[in-house]
Amino acid sequence: MDQQPWWRGAVIYQIYPRSFQDSDGNGVGDLPGIIARLDYVASLGVDAIWVSPFFRSPMADFGYDIADYRDVDPLFGTLADFDRLVAEAHGRGLKVVIDQVLSHTSDQHPWFRESRESRDNPKADWYVWADARADGAPPNNWLSIFGGVAWQWEPRRRQYYLHNFLTAQPDLNFHHADVRRATLDNVRFWLDRGVDGFRLDAINFCFHDRQLRDNPAKPVEQRVGRGFSPDNPYAFQYHYYNNTQPENVAFLRELRALLDEYPDVAALGEISSEDSLATMAEYTGPDRLHMGYSFELLTEDFSADFLRATIRALEAQMVDGWPCWAISNHDVERVASRWGGDAAPAHAASLMTAMACSLRGSVCVYQGEELGLPEADVPFELLQDPYGIAFWPNFKGRDGCRTPMPWSEAPHGDFSTAAPWLPIPPTHRARSVARQEAEADSPLQRFRTFLRWRRSQAALVEGSIQLLGDTGPVLALQRRHGEQAICAYFNPTPVPQTVAAGAKPHTVLEGHGLLAGELRGGEVVLPPYGALFLACR
Ligand code: BGC
Repeated sequence: MDQQPWWRGAVIYQIYPRSFQDSDGNGVGDLPGIIARLDYVASLGVDAIWVSPFFRSPMADFGYDIADYRDVDPLFGTLADFDRLVAEAHGRGLKVVIDQVLSHTSDQHPWFRESRESRDNPKADWYVWADARADGAPPNNWLSIFGGVAWQWEPRRRQYYLHNFLTAQPDLNFHHADVRRATLDNVRFWLDRGVDGFRLDAINFCFHDRQLRDNPAKPVEQRVGRGFSPDNPYAFQYHYYNNTQPENVAFLRELRALLDEYPDVAALGEISSEDSLATMAEYTGPDRLHMGYSFELLTEDFSADFLRATIRALEAQMVDGWPCWAISNHDVERVASRWGGDAAPAHAASLMTAMACSLRGSVCVYQGEELGLPEADVPFELLQDPYGIAFWPNFKGRDGCRTPMPWSEAPHGDFSTAAPWLPIPPTHRARSVARQEAEADSPLQRFRTFLRWRRSQAALVEGSIQLLGDTGPVLALQRRHGEQAICAYFNPTPVPQTVAAGAKPHTVLEGHGLLAGELRGGEVVLPPYGALFLACR
């Protein structure tokens, strides 16, 4: 395979530190816990880990509300633990990507504590402050993703501040050069500690419209949420003015110039805009972010039609950028339930991950995806996520995908010696790592086999992509790199499917570990949730 940057075609394993492994018996995972499980992570055949926030935080949004960008929260360990994590991961050939939440801070961050004091302190303009309208109402109609208006009144200043997320997550004012400078200094702090990359939280939310214009209303039929509940009034607007402002691109260039001072570092932006694929294309490239990722495949629809439309739309716009795909993460219902439902066989999970890993781009795989874990049903009394509590019972929030890793069938799954911060459901303990290690065709074993095989197929890692026509319920695509071309067929449905393989000679590729289809005459015959890979010309 060519010498290419590590991140192109990489499989990035997302670790949610609260829920991976507890080492000190308080029911919450931590950095030493991650270190203790690195052999497992390396055994999966992934290229990198992305560790969700572990910085000092009051944990209103479980770490996505940062009070000190340059320290580890005591709940998770120390900076020395972090340094050890980087060294231990590197020792196993794993790159380390960390989250950076640049667009907003915690309301407990010293910057905000100072800013909220008065209208004329040195940090007075570091956040987005605005006067009330004549009738006392907020300055415009912007809404918070987590429900309600996006403005919170501050009596000391007699002004409102903007929060696109929780009230405890005030938005920084990126129009202010000092804010951009201070933010980039924080990024440099972690570059100097040896990280290999960043996942940039809500990166299109850094800037807001300076004129604070109202967002227009969205017609009812278009109110489908991408990454937020459809019951949320947030879906009632076009978010033209509270995010994705033109100034953002210049900031990404500044950020890229900083990253380019360090060898082999990559940035992955989380993008959720009115047209996320277009924004992914706009935000990625040689002088911008290395990769962009969006909520496109984190929704309900995984039909071949939808996947084809998504691939077509992205490929038509992305000229020199590189996508990253995710079918699950810490913000959405687990993919085995979302796409598979209760009735899907165990191997359906493997097919879904393999399908995402066969698109052009890199992939983020969320902890537990390799086990095919279904969404956990967390009762209201145990809910932790403020988003879920606000929208219950119509939408239960994000706790169901954040329950701790079931390492074994023990009562706390060998995650902790204490009761975990969220319960591990019996359905997860029945699919524990220990049990799946012992089963030949478990999702875990198929996942490992597939990643090992994929790594040896340059076309799948770094090749171009072409759809093989409208093949109905089957997704058929070709990946090509140099002399190698692979035709891949996926059946993401619960019934067998047959499609034409085309007139050219093909050879069946073995060794991918998925439930395999067959080539019969000129036809590809696929079992439910099966796949076929052909060497083609
Ligand atoms: C993160 C969420 C978080 C939000 C605010 C996101 O997109 O993935 O978990 O709540 O940003 O920081």
